[in-house]
Amino acid sequence: MRDSIIVVGSGLMGVGIAAVSALAGNRTVLFDSAEEKIKNAKAVSLAQCFELLDNGLITEEAAKRAEELLSVTSDMEGALSRAKWVIEAITENLEAKRSLFAALDRLLPAEVPILSNTSGLRITDISAKIKHPERALTTHFWFPAHLVPLVEVVVGDKSSMDMAVTVKEELDRWGKTAVLVKRDLPGQLANRILQAVIREAVSIVEMGLASAEDVDKAVKAGMGIRFPVWGPLEHVDAVGLDLCASVQDTVLPGISARADAAPLMRDLIEDGKLGYKTGQGIYDWSMKDMKALERARNEFIIHALKKIHALKKIHALEKIKQREN
Ligand SMILES: NC(=O)c1ccc[n+]([C@@H]2O[C@H](COP(=O)([O-])OP(=O)(O)OC[C@H]3O[C@@H](n4cnc5c(N)ncnc54)[C@H](O)[C@@H]3O)[C@@H](O)[C@H]2O)c1
Repeated sequence: MRDSIIVVGSGLMGVGIAAVSALAGNRTVLFDSAEEKIKNAKAVSLAQCFELLDNGLITEEAAKRAEELLSVTSDMEGALSRAKWVIEAITENLEAKRSLFAALDRLLPAEVPILSNTSGLRITDISAKIKHPERALTTHFWFPAHLVPLVEVVVGDKSSMDMAVTVKEELDRWGKTAVLVKRDLPGQLANRILQAVIREAVSIVEMGLASAEDVDKAVKAGMGIRFPVWGPLEHVDAVGLDLCASVQDTVLPGISARADAAPLMRDLIEDGKLGYKTGQGIYDWSMKDMKALERARNEFIIHALKKIHALKKIHALEKIKQREN
């Protein structure tokens, strides 16, 4: 019986993906090549389920069920005999992913999807040497995977579009918000947009137009607060294409179109200022508290998720009422 989601790699992302999978009612097995990771993986994954429970985002019954459905193994080959899907979440290294995909491709029947959580590599390259590249797709969960709804399903040059659509629909059923990315390009979909935002944010600081603090403030207090319900393309239609095109004609010539990382970033790197991990980057981290920021981020996402769940319920009720009338 092929009824299990096998998550290979039990690091930061793997445990979150496993929590999401088990909460969706799937028998879920976590594997890692490092013994110490396997030891803690179930507890870490369950802690994420309990965070959702404590915040009223799932029921006690769902959390208990996830606890029963979630397990760890040190025998990947054994676990594969029940694999419905395999989700790879190992270290971001092309050769490591290629050799894992080659092993999985040998061990699994051709209809079992092999999915990669890669954030930067092309699934076409990861699956280049396997016999059945049509069953290879990227499913890029965003961090923290148990909280952020987005999953980008990326179709490689040789991937099956039918399988991609099936995987996307199943991830939606899991409660995620999956999007189909029809070509395998660097940055997938959302990271292309994020990198464009970062490029302009750095450029604004570099040209002295505003301080780093004010750039972050402007994004958080302006477009950022609207984005959960008001995407950029909805914005274009809301203001009108004619107005938007005229704003673009005025603004675009003056904003950054660089094709590489900005000198400001390269200079900081050269000075050993790599950001939080070295204590200094664009900001002085002795003056900022990463743990507090992480807490605030999760609290805000949880708050937004509650609101989104409530809105979904209202919309569902409205649809039922409309059907009854
Ligand atoms: N961290 C993020 O914010 C983030 C977000 C989205 C996607 N990703 C992607 O997800 C993947 C995993 O990232 P992470 O942050 O969880 O990394 P991580 O370093 O926290 O975890 C990777 C795990 O893979 C294990 N591993 C390495 N090689 C293995 C192998 N051959 N077989 C089994 N296990 C193996 C390691 O022991 C480790 O526990 C990467 O491709 C990364 O780019 C990361």
